[in-house]
Amino acid sequence: MTMTPPSISAPIYSEQDHHTWAALYARQLPQAEQRGCRLFRDGLQRLRLDPQRLPDPCDVSDRLFELSGWTLGDAQNAYLGPTEWFEHIAERRFPVTNYIRQPHEIDFTPLPDLFHEYFGHLAFFTDRRFGDIAQAFGPLYLAADERQRLEIARLWWFTTEFGLLYEDGELRALGAGLLSSIGEMQKAFAPATQRIPFAIRRAAETASAVYEMHQIYFILDGVEQIVAIIRQYATDEGLPIPAL
Ligand SMILES: [Fe+2]
Repeated sequence: MTMTPPSISAPIYSEQDHHTWAALYARQLPQAEQRGCRLFRDGLQRLRLDPQRLPDPCDVSDRLFELSGWTLGDAQNAYLGPTEWFEHIAERRFPVTNYIRQPHEIDFTPLPDLFHEYFGHLAFFTDRRFGDIAQAFGPLYLAADERQRLEIARLWWFTTEFGLLYEDGELRALGAGLLSSIGEMQKAFAPATQRIPFAIRRAAETASAVYEMHQIYFILDGVEQIVAIIRQYATDEGLPIPAL
């Protein structure tokens, strides 16, 4: 049985595109294995990406569905608006692009490309529990007013995109934006960088940086703290409390 949505199709990539993927993968893997949290490292094994060739979105979507009940959706090669984004998330669908950066953009691409999405995010979505936690952001966001929506998007951002966590006494990367970026991973772990224990109001009031690196990172006790964050925010704001 396949659950691949009809909007997802396997694009035709050039050899240069495959080469860009392979170069990014080879460069990022040692750092991500050294700094990444256990959920990422185990998930990357289960995800079985080919280090040499760009992934086929249909294959990956089917594998995710078997493992966690998530599928891939079409992000239309752009930043989705936050409402559209959380509508996908509420449906257990992770939006991905087909876009791979150009060779001169190896160090930085302003658009999230598929290396960020497949390498940075999808390992986590092989895990059903993480998938349940991520999905809970969807209905919470959709039930919220405009101010709350901005804040919920920031709670997502400073956990799943740029979060750090302590694991066995070691600081580890949780966020996909760290795991897929040489520069921002180094920035997040640099001695001079500001890192503080996750504080809901502080994160909710901190603007996300899209085109530059962040000035502050938040540290979780573990992935389960995201559940506590979601439940506390829902309680404080009078929103439906997710059953997690
Ligand atoms: Fe992302």
